[in-house]
Amino acid sequence: MTGFLRSGAPFVADVTLVSLWALGAVAVGGWILARRRAFPRHCRLMAWVALLAWLPILFGMVGRWLELAQLGRNVFVQTATVVPFMHGVTGGLAQGLMTYTVVRMNWRRKWPPRRPLWLMRISMALWLLSIVGGTGVYLLLYR
Ligand code: HEM
Repeated sequence: MTGFLRSGAPFVADVTLVSLWALGAVAVGGWILARRRAFPRHCRLMAWVALLAWLPILFGMVGRWLELAQLGRNVFVQTATVVPFMHGVTGGLAQGLMTYTVVRMNWRRKWPPRRPLWLMRISMALWLLSIVGGTGVYLLLYR
């Protein structure tokens, strides 16, 4: 079934893209809350963002990435395979770090680091960059 963005992409790819843009917008809202020193709301919102992001990743990306991984070295032959493959690796790191950060901030205060500001900044930056990268993947595959 084709999607609703008129790119000819599968429906699931359009849902994945739009849901991550929406979560990205909410994450920017969460960052604004932190700037306004509304820390408890910021913390909760970022937890929702990070945990909900697992849904499009698991349902829209992991299956396709495993297919690419099965190509072995051949994955590096074509732009259309190497770019989504490498995006999966870096996106996995970003999502893993983001998940660690929200768990650390909401439920496991004793986990390292003791001063977590840099962790929050790095994980948020990498995570937002992954949305940009994922949008690039979408444009590469379906534009
Ligand atoms: C912060 C984490 C991530 C973000 C924000 C993100 C974002 C996106 C977006 C917006 C797309 C375009 C929509 C689409 O084509 O389905 C995409 C595609 C893709 N992502 Fe991610 N992604 C993340 C993590 C991952 C992970 C962990 C994997 C692999 C395990 C992965 C593998 C893929 C693949 C293979 C595609 C192409 C899917 C297709 O053929 O349509 N991504 N990603």
